[in-house]
Amino acid sequence: MSAPTGDIGLIGLAVMGQNLILNAADHGYTVVAYNRTVSKVDHFLENEAKGKSIIGAHSIEELVANLKRPRRIILLVKAGDAVDNFISQLEPHLEKGDIIIDGGNSHFPDSNRRYEELKAKGLLFVGSGVSGGEEGARTGPSLMPGGAAEAWPHIKAIFQDIAAKTDGEPCCDWVGPAGAGHYVKMVHNGIEYGDMQLICEAYDLLKRGAGFTDKEIADVFAKWNTGVLDSFLIEITRDILYFQDEDNTPLVEKILDTAGQKGTGKWTAVNALDLATPVTLIGEAVFSRTLSAIKDERVRASKILGGPSPKFDGNKEEFVNNLEQALYASKIISYAQGFMLIREAGKEYGWELNNAGIALMWRGGCIIRSVFLGEITKAYRENPKLENLLFNEFFYNAINKAQDGWREIVATSAKWGIPTPAFSTALSFYDGYRSARLPANLLQAQRDYFGAHTFKVLDEFASDKLPKNTNIHINWTGRGGNVSASTYDA
Ligand code: 2AM
Repeated sequence: MSAPTGDIGLIGLAVMGQNLILNAADHGYTVVAYNRTVSKVDHFLENEAKGKSIIGAHSIEELVANLKRPRRIILLVKAGDAVDNFISQLEPHLEKGDIIIDGGNSHFPDSNRRYEELKAKGLLFVGSGVSGGEEGARTGPSLMPGGAAEAWPHIKAIFQDIAAKTDGEPCCDWVGPAGAGHYVKMVHNGIEYGDMQLICEAYDLLKRGAGFTDKEIADVFAKWNTGVLDSFLIEITRDILYFQDEDNTPLVEKILDTAGQKGTGKWTAVNALDLATPVTLIGEAVFSRTLSAIKDERVRASKILGGPSPKFDGNKEEFVNNLEQALYASKIISYAQGFMLIREAGKEYGWELNNAGIALMWRGGCIIRSVFLGEITKAYRENPKLENLLFNEFFYNAINKAQDGWREIVATSAKWGIPTPAFSTALSFYDGYRSARLPANLLQAQRDYFGAHTFKVLDEFASDKLPKNTNIHINWTGRGGNVSASTYDA
């Protein structure tokens, strides 16, 4: 047999897989395509792939035989067992140094495990986040690869060629070890949940609160898309609100108000709890979807539970400006929280993560792409060790400027009885984060009172009776003993 010509193999011919293959072929790569249901290979070859540098494989053996070494194989199949099954099928045909890339929506602990399992066999595992939907896959997705670093030099050119570009830079860089690529993709999705929830709250306030029509709201989003909020999600919201059904009414108003979810936002929120990191906005975004999902119960509650009715007699332009500020400030908080989580994950899992690179990967190609991410990239490039996005001058100035409008919106929504969980939690986080002293002193006293969980004393009040840096238990009631419970840090 002549020398193999395939640069890269791809398993999984759903739309994402097909589009990624076509994208790679457009960039001059020869791609070998395979799918569990083999008839899809022939169908693809006879249609979309016709005349392009794409080879169809009808078995795993044929796929592997057509690839140059080290072999590079991307899996774009359903997350879970399908990935493990294909890895097991591939293993006997691969040799040391060959590379398996999982581009599906895998949960990062699975990628950690696969990385270790393949490493033990001399194979290189890469778990790569892929974002941008079908269109992104075809024209340039955001790619977030992590895993075996030795694989990176062999996949860098092709990954960066097919990825989205912003200002000439590819939205793809090496993320870090083991499951770090899928981890960063998970946080991306969590942030996406937050961005979407913020936009929905703004729509609700404009519609139910200030009485705007959908067309007027679309005009607001169109304007916002030319300013600091310029982003893919604002842009599609504008288009959705302009979109009319055949009867010339906005289609969006006919859609059942129960949100679905595939779980990646939940993974992020659960991980934030595991890492004891206050990623409150994503948490609220996930809970908001679950509240929306109990529609029947809400309908019953709406008939019993009273509240104020919105009354708007203010200046529309001022309201829209305040809302833009609220959205912008809340978004800054959400991204600051997302990067706090990434910081903690780096410590917890021992990953050296490159924040500027992550921001650049999200800058284009993916669902959360925005001009704003360019500012985040800049902040981390200026100072790669930046402790928190809110310590960057651009961002603290931005939030300072936005906060009057933001507070006005949160206060107004409370008075109107329109829920703004994401705007509100962002503001509460901001006020908590900038408080040198929080009421946790009382909380510690309560814990010690009922459970002898002990507390520490502020340095300036240390004394013989209340020694510095010591776990102290006080007999608050004069009853009970002086024995303290063993302490633990939540
Ligand atoms: P199929 O065309 O044979 O169904 C998205 O669903 C992709 O994942 C498709 O390529 C699909 O293959 C593949 N897929 C889904 N579940 C799978 C499984 N259990 N084993 C192998 N491939 C699977």
